[in-house]
Amino acid sequence: MSRQAKKTPDVFLAFSHTIELPKHWPTVSPSRRTTRRALMIEVQHLTKRYGPVTAVDDVSFRAEKGEILGLLGPNGAGKTTTMRVLTGYMPATEGSATVAGYDVFTNPIEAKRRVGYLPETPPLYPDMTVREYLTFVAKLKLPGSVSRSERISRVNGVMTKTNITDMANRHCAKLSKGYKQRVGLAQALIHDPEVLILDEPTAGLDPKQIIEVRDLIRALAGNHTVVLSTHILPEVSQTCRRVVIINRGRVVAVDTPDNLTQQLKGSATLYVQVDAAGADAAAALSTIIGVRQVSEHDRREQSVGFEVASDTERDIRRDVARMIVDKGWGLLELRPLRLSLEDIFLQLTTDENQLAGGSKEFAFPFDGAQGDAAEAASESEATPNA
Ligand SMILES: Nc1ncnc2c1ncn2[C@@H]1O[C@H](COP(=O)(O)OP(=O)(O)O)[C@@H](O)[C@H]1O
Ligand SMILES: [Mg+2]
Repeated sequence: MSRQAKKTPDVFLAFSHTIELPKHWPTVSPSRRTTRRALMIEVQHLTKRYGPVTAVDDVSFRAEKGEILGLLGPNGAGKTTTMRVLTGYMPATEGSATVAGYDVFTNPIEAKRRVGYLPETPPLYPDMTVREYLTFVAKLKLPGSVSRSERISRVNGVMTKTNITDMANRHCAKLSKGYKQRVGLAQALIHDPEVLILDEPTAGLDPKQIIEVRDLIRALAGNHTVVLSTHILPEVSQTCRRVVIINRGRVVAVDTPDNLTQQLKGSATLYVQVDAAGADAAAALSTIIGVRQVSEHDRREQSVGFEVASDTERDIRRDVARMIVDKGWGLLELRPLRLSLEDIFLQLTTDENQLAGGSKEFAFPFDGAQGDAAEAASESEATPNA
């Protein structure tokens, strides 16, 4: 609701090539193009404070050329803040960010040339038609040397790519949410950037629009490196190759959607230490029902420690203790090794509910791909029944 109400487009901020550097910015060596294996985005120890609020707390991640990286976390996790820093929209308090090897703070112009940014609210001008708006953006973002005909062909090109040609002469104000989002994507693509930063690109869309936008994003990967944010689990499993989960400004997990799904489906890890260094304790522990994997963690002269992964539905602690006693080994330590991902997701869900006043939009688990669609925006140009 408030999305449409927001009137001032962020367009000038988005295109502004001058940013204020923080006064306490640590000295950084002059930026140079990274020669490492096609690393397109590198965020290192990024911290952003708004006065007393730490919105992003020591966040680090990378994205390689052509991949789609998801930033997943509940509302207020720090996704938008991270993206704003990454696009040079505002300075970090600490840490660094590079795009295609260019530091976004010390080399903002070069970095911004390589970034297309779709903010949470697409920066559209309501009084312009789609074509007028994209032409305006093209004039801002393309170098002065680009000819008029080239500019026109770029505008036509991005309209085709994002499937909005039929709305070329419609005023931005009159567009449905789905089309606004696609026009937002079109403006982000106009200078054919290497990197696309998309802030909740499918939020508020109806099911059909969500599928279209996801397909579009997938089609863009390869040529572009995409970082997208979402607070909905299915989004990342459908679109992203890798996921960075953030909660309260901190990275809590980085993995592929498949691995996360696997873990989410229920796996807990125990640390078990026994004084049975000579025996094949790993093989014995593996026979316990519910145990998925046993790996050696540490070994000393008298003791050996294992990580024992198991299904969460089954509390294996008693069976583990019993087996160790039966074998005549000494049980030195038995404790949960870390919070399972499921716990983290439950935590995220709780936060979401608190923040969004009980919204059920946060689908759980991954497989519920329809969950997000259920309460998508009512506005739709694409679905006949909507
Ligand atoms: N301009 C701002 N001033 C003060 N606090 C802010 C500002 N923008 C965001 N925050 C706070 O920073 C935290 C992270 O917000 P944000 O990056 O928007 O998260 P997300 O995009 O994951 O929902 C939240 O606690 C939010 O209230
Ligand atoms: Mg946000």
